[in-house]
Amino acid sequence: MLLQIKVYIITILYFFGSLFMVLFPPRNFEQSSGASIRIMRRFGDEINYKEYIDNEALLTIIQRITRNDSEVARLVYLKPITAENRSIVSLELHSDLQSKKPGILVIGALNGMVWGASNAVIELAEKLLYDSNYQTPFFNDYDWYLIPMGNPDGIHFTQKLRSRPSFGADEWSRNITVRNQTRPTVWHKNVDKNNGPGTCFGTNINRNFAYHWQDDVSKTPDQCSQYYPGVKPFSSVEAQAIRNYIHRLGDVIHLAIHLHASFVPKKEFILYPWRYSLRHPSNYRTLQDIGEYAARQSRLPDGRLYEVHQSSSDERVAGSLSDYITGVAGIDLVFLVKPYHQMYPNYTDHTILEVYVKKAMSAILSLVRGWRSSTKQNTLSFFGKDVEF
Ligand SMILES: *[C@@H]1O[C@H](CO)[C@@H](O)[C@H](O)[C@H]1NC(C)=O
Ligand SMILES: *[C@@H]1O[C@H](CO)[C@@H](O)[C@H](O)[C@H]1NC(C)=O
Ligand SMILES: *[C@@H]1O[C@H](CO)[C@@H](O)[C@H](O)[C@H]1NC(C)=O
Ligand SMILES: *[C@@H]1O[C@H](CO)[C@@H](O)[C@H](O)[C@H]1NC(C)=O
Ligand SMILES: *[C@@H]1O[C@H](CO)[C@@H](O)[C@H](O)[C@H]1NC(C)=O
Repeated sequence: MLLQIKVYIITILYFFGSLFMVLFPPRNFEQSSGASIRIMRRFGDEINYKEYIDNEALLTIIQRITRNDSEVARLVYLKPITAENRSIVSLELHSDLQSKKPGILVIGALNGMVWGASNAVIELAEKLLYDSNYQTPFFNDYDWYLIPMGNPDGIHFTQKLRSRPSFGADEWSRNITVRNQTRPTVWHKNVDKNNGPGTCFGTNINRNFAYHWQDDVSKTPDQCSQYYPGVKPFSSVEAQAIRNYIHRLGDVIHLAIHLHASFVPKKEFILYPWRYSLRHPSNYRTLQDIGEYAARQSRLPDGRLYEVHQSSSDERVAGSLSDYITGVAGIDLVFLVKPYHQMYPNYTDHTILEVYVKKAMSAILSLVRGWRSSTKQNTLSFFGKDVEF
């Protein structure tokens, strides 16, 4: 009798179990029909690229990736090209072509000092493509749009001058005679020469987007300043190229991340709009929660957490990429990630690069996890505890 009851109970449990699987199939199960079978390996903890990736190397790497994996990886040249005739490129990863998945946009190295950002984005791309640890959920559940280097001219410029003695950036910009032998202490801009009259050159791309352009400053920074926002919104070709690409993608993007850097040790941030104003965005609570979740998941090597808050609460910056993506392109989930990065780091010291790359990748993937957890996508509430599957 007791045995019979047990059998009945187990049968009923199985029945409900199967019914549940049919009614609520796991997303990966549904999609696996369209996904191509990929050769996956597990990688160690090592980074693959030990040198700073410049624009040429970046193209070579992306071309190799897209040749080897043409069904899932695509190279897109953004237009227009830069003042020094370089193309900003995007690497698009689609785990299968049949279905459209939520898109994640990552843009790195918009600032001339963030040499490691392109490395971080490329390492991330290779993990998504080739490392089985990242296949589910990160590769299979999303379409990825990766722009490793938003400011190729600026990065080229600072890397070329790296071994020269340093000279105050404002004075360097004004004094033509010192330019030949020295490098500016900082260079946050591109190297555009057609940015107005005068000897100074370069526009700060991250202040050149047409959303509340110059709304933060009572007096326009002059052309020699590292914060010069351009003669008008979208006067820089880099901002134009990124705008054109974002608008072409349209509403496929659900989450956008600008990978930037903090140049102050032990001050590392995960930020979100608005950056031009202290006013909260309407989804302020969600952004803060996802950011805090990501910070807990991507604890920094010395045990600290990323500081998470609205980006204007430490400094107001108008015309920035992240505000434009939210305010004009209408993407609700936008984050600005700032792991610590030295200015002109020792070019041959791999450990400096590796530390930045790992922090950046971990923060980006944790934001994706935070987003998943906030939507309760792929999670089941099990006796009041959320279990991800
Ligand atoms: C790409 O293909 C080449 C030649 O087939 C091979 O040597 C190389 O290891 C592949 N690269 C990757 C990253 O799979
Ligand atoms: C870029 O290309 C244009 C047209 O081909 C050429 O006139 C110009 O000199 C090039 N600029 C650089 C910096 O190579
Ligand atoms: C430029 O800098 C050099 C070296 O510091 C100095 O001798 C020169 O007077 C400066 N020129 C101007 C125009 O300030
Ligand atoms: C800078 O160097 C170039 C060649 O090395 C030279 O032609 C030019 O006159 C120099 N400019 C200044 C301002 O010293
Ligand atoms: C840069 O790093 C390399 C390799 O770690 C080291 O040999 C070299 O001394 C460093 N240079 C400076 C200027 O610190």
